[in-house]
Amino acid sequence: MDLLQAARDVRENAYAPYSNFKVGAAIRAASGTVYTGCNVENVAYPEGTCAEAGAIAAMVAAGETRLTEVLVIADSPTPVPPCGGCRQKLVEFGGPEVRLTMCTLDGATQEMTLAEILPGRFDPSHMDRA
Ligand code: THU
Repeated sequence: MDLLQAARDVRENAYAPYSNFKVGAAIRAASGTVYTGCNVENVAYPEGTCAEAGAIAAMVAAGETRLTEVLVIADSPTPVPPCGGCRQKLVEFGGPEVRLTMCTLDGATQEMTLAEILPGRFDPSHMDRA
């Protein structure tokens, strides 16, 4: 399945009445299956969830814990990057070399690895003495 089309499609379902900023995310899991998510906001603003978190939750709920590719899209002037928290969530399941494609609705794209978007990340080695 095409990650770009999947992310575009799920973005339409985003619930973003407060920010009016709809985001779609698609991730390909190790099996090849594509999982998608959109942002889901709440009147209690901190309770809202990001598109990437939704896609990860769908993947884990389906029994998969490794992802090999990520794409995020929004109607932004420049390709939309995952927020800081979502970067950490993605690297938990993706590993540093996984490619992330950031997109605008207009067709602009930017590619980076998860390592590139999250330098200095907290990882299990930091807990070696625990
Ligand atoms: N948002 C995402 O869904 N993913 C990101 O990585 C950036 C931000 C959402 C959260 C909120 O619903 C809206 O975009 C504005 O911040």
